[in-house]
Amino acid sequence: MSVHIGAKQGDIAETVLMPGDPLRAKYIADNFLEDVVCYNKVRGMYGYTGTYKGKRVSVQGSGMGLPSLSIYAHELVNEFMVKKLIRVGSCGSFQPEVELRDIVIAQAASTNSSINKNRFKGMDFAPVGSFDLIMGAVAKAMDMGINPHVGNILSSDVFYDDEPEFWKQWAKYGVLAVEMETTALYTIAAKFGVQALTILTVSDSLVTQQGLPAEDREKTFTQMMEIALEIA
Ligand code: ADE
Repeated sequence: MSVHIGAKQGDIAETVLMPGDPLRAKYIADNFLEDVVCYNKVRGMYGYTGTYKGKRVSVQGSGMGLPSLSIYAHELVNEFMVKKLIRVGSCGSFQPEVELRDIVIAQAASTNSSINKNRFKGMDFAPVGSFDLIMGAVAKAMDMGINPHVGNILSSDVFYDDEPEFWKQWAKYGVLAVEMETTALYTIAAKFGVQALTILTVSDSLVTQQGLPAEDREKTFTQMMEIALEIA
């Protein structure tokens, strides 16, 4: 086992889906995978391995924020030889055309966190998603009749910002939406030479101040899961 994941070598598949919420990981395992085994309960951050259309896939909760995701992504790649990390999550829109329920594929992830500033001694690293996974996800979405938004997102260190208009500066530069993990995911994938992609559904909008009702979240979540599992 690693420090935070109570699994044995071989328990975790080469491809891991990473929702922020560990109970979402359980829901995905229960509803989308077959022959499921739970390999991690440490800190309640559930991890499961099963099969999707005969292919072995794992799903591991990441927790919220860059530091938490960094721990799980680091250990998955270093201790369990994972080769493909696919984050599935929600985001808040910065653009009027990015509407509630839409799907956002994160081509790149800007941040207001200092994690990479520290890592690169004040210089800027540009964390980008895997081109192959972006291509695969866009193709699958189009097959399903979905037009995903593909572009830059913001991975924020702050959910409750002191400045309510903070998002407008990012929006001006074309950033599509905000979440809290992808900069770390793409940076760790680059460091260790593995593939990573973030697929998001829009759960709220900073433009319109609206949020998605709970029952709608389920439906759009299913579309995002199908895209993620097909490229897994
Ligand atoms: N995830 C979903 N909506 C969000 C928001 N408004 N800010 C940060 N992360 C989010």
